[in-house]
Amino acid sequence: MTEINAVTTLTRDGDVAVITLNSPPVNALSAAVRQGLYDGFKAAGASDAKAIVLICDGRTFIAGADITEFGAPAGTPTASLFDVQTMMEDSPVPVIAAIHGTALGGGLEVALCAHYRVAVPSARLGLPEVALGLLPGAGGTQRLPRVVGVETALEMMTSGRHVPAPEAFKLGLVDELAPEGELRAAAIAFANKCVAENRPLVKISDNNTKLEAAKGHPEIFANFRKANARKFRGFEAPEANIKCIEAAVNSATFEEGLKAERTLFGGLMSGVQSAAQRYYFFAERQANKIPGIADDTPVRPINKVGIIGAGTMGGGIAMNFANVGIQVVIVEQQQAPLDKGLATIRSNYERSRTAKPEETAKRVGLITGSLSMEEAFKDVDLVIEAVFERMDIKKDIFTKLDAICKPGAILATNTSALNIDEIASVTKRPQDVIGLHFFSPANVMKLLEIVRADHTADDVIQTSMKLAKKIGKIAVLVGVTPGFVGNRILGQRQREAQKLVLEGAMPWDVDRVLYDFGFPMGPFAMSDLAGLDIGWVKEKSHGETIRDVLCEADRRGQKTGAGYYDYDENRNAKPSPFTEQVIHDFIVKSGANPRKISDEEILERCIFPMINEAVKILEEGKAIRASDVDVVWVNGYGWPVYRGGPMFYGDLVGPAKVLEKMKEFEAKMGEQFKPAALLEKLVADGKKFADLKG
Ligand SMILES: NC(=O)c1ccc[n+]([C@@H]2O[C@H](COP(=O)([O-])OP(=O)(O)OC[C@H]3O[C@@H](n4cnc5c(N)ncnc54)[C@H](O)[C@@H]3O)[C@@H](O)[C@H]2O)c1
Repeated sequence: MTEINAVTTLTRDGDVAVITLNSPPVNALSAAVRQGLYDGFKAAGASDAKAIVLICDGRTFIAGADITEFGAPAGTPTASLFDVQTMMEDSPVPVIAAIHGTALGGGLEVALCAHYRVAVPSARLGLPEVALGLLPGAGGTQRLPRVVGVETALEMMTSGRHVPAPEAFKLGLVDELAPEGELRAAAIAFANKCVAENRPLVKISDNNTKLEAAKGHPEIFANFRKANARKFRGFEAPEANIKCIEAAVNSATFEEGLKAERTLFGGLMSGVQSAAQRYYFFAERQANKIPGIADDTPVRPINKVGIIGAGTMGGGIAMNFANVGIQVVIVEQQQAPLDKGLATIRSNYERSRTAKPEETAKRVGLITGSLSMEEAFKDVDLVIEAVFERMDIKKDIFTKLDAICKPGAILATNTSALNIDEIASVTKRPQDVIGLHFFSPANVMKLLEIVRADHTADDVIQTSMKLAKKIGKIAVLVGVTPGFVGNRILGQRQREAQKLVLEGAMPWDVDRVLYDFGFPMGPFAMSDLAGLDIGWVKEKSHGETIRDVLCEADRRGQKTGAGYYDYDENRNAKPSPFTEQVIHDFIVKSGANPRKISDEEILERCIFPMINEAVKILEEGKAIRASDVDVVWVNGYGWPVYRGGPMFYGDLVGPAKVLEKMKEFEAKMGEQFKPAALLEKLVADGKKFADLKG
């Protein structure tokens, strides 16, 4: 065995040279890996080996670029990825990439320079750069369509999907499937077969057959863009990926296509969107780290979960646990709501069709109902309360839970805004009480705010964080404050949206500005979707707000065909003259004059108070770090990931500008815009929002 460098070895198996990478955890393409590959292929090529196998130790093939290197200052010059790829493609003997785990991004781009690829069935291959606002910048955009064809390449590159090896085999991306656990032997056997059969050295960059099929058919691209317009809205990277494939088809040579790839890559890499998406990638991982709670803190076993309330939230929450094989029992006070809740769960499962029928049946079978907390909850490890949002009811329930549940059971509430310390105070075990704030629909939404109360024990937090991961949620630890992090910030935007309308902006103006910013919909369209009558009581309604008047006119949102907007039979929204008149009347009644409000003001009035509120939350220690706020908003409220989140966006605009505007609004409109003291300090110290810690 020859040691090429710290992460690369070269061995011999008969006529076959085997280059092995071992750079934990994922063999990412760091400088050492690139140099090892370069020197390894050079040494193997200079030997009398008749074929070369590239394989990786550990859990995966090269899983991608080393993204910690992005934007880092250049170290000692090393072989570039391009040098490595040229060396592989030009090898005088066949090169076989042996793939297990994942061959993603740069990893797949390396594998595409081998003459053949062998993979185990559990391996997955893909070019996921788009998720980081990028495109595969090492020839992947030019080679992939040459192997799998233009349509498949478009789909793979713009979705970033990890393609399972058996599918990759059908697509021609993998040449042979190896038995699981026998990759090395299978790859060597394949290499020997290449030698024995004198198989050609397949150089993907030379083979244009699949591109020819798309030449002179620009409609392939036009149709693809049209079909995905909604999904790609606002994002730059999908379009740049598409353009690269267009370049592959339309360029006279491979090199010309590569040049287009390089230019488009450079544009994305130096742009704001990719910076935001890469920042966000790390933000999500960072959110798992809780200062003062070590990663190896023991967790409490959670094998059975109790839920109180089979309503909108309770049912969705139950599905999360059943989906990962955890038994759930739901308690209601009456049979009718229990039956209704269980029926909704069943129909949700039937409609979603995410699992095979027998698996769905198993999941449904894991969820049972009961009318007795005493019976149902005596052996549960975790209870989640999801009843009406009323302190008296919640206190009553927690008093009962304290008496019923076994010692060590975690007692959680799904409250959206109530004080969890107050709820915990009725128990003799406040250390076991925590908030688990799921978002609606709870079986779909990824975000989970885990709310730490004054006395919540570390292992209860740790258990909740790990459990969140198990059920596929992205958890953020927050403190007790009205609305917690997400809804407290949302409150600012909602207030300003309403005020703007009373000053002269129309709901569709506010919605359009926020939609164009990148939100899936604006606040008024959202209200129409959810139903304007949530929390509205007919008997108590006397036309005091715009909403009252709309509801009184039976304009209760999409479900009644009208709300802030008018809807046609396909639920397409149109600005409503009725609503416009209602707003006008309100303004006149208040004695004000409607004024023309610019899009810029709408955006700043909606967004800057949110940023200011986030700073207050950090100031009060109710969030751990600025990036956690961004994780909450990207995952829970549709903040466009290409703008990073409110804190990242605040840094883009500049803290000084945010402060200046808040002061200007405060002078004109008062108190509600008062800048957080920490915002003033941040600007005085010349720091960034991203530096803020709670
Ligand atoms: N709906 C949302 O978007 C949302 C989002 C996050 C959090 N939450 C919070 O989740 C909780 C539940 O909200 P929801 O929207 O599911 O309400 P919901 O009205 O749909 O369901 C509440 C259920 O609790 C049952 N219930 C009431 N008192 C009970 C008792 N003493 N014992 C057993 N069952 C009882 C009711 O019969 C009802 O089925 C609230 O605290 C709410 O603030 C709601």
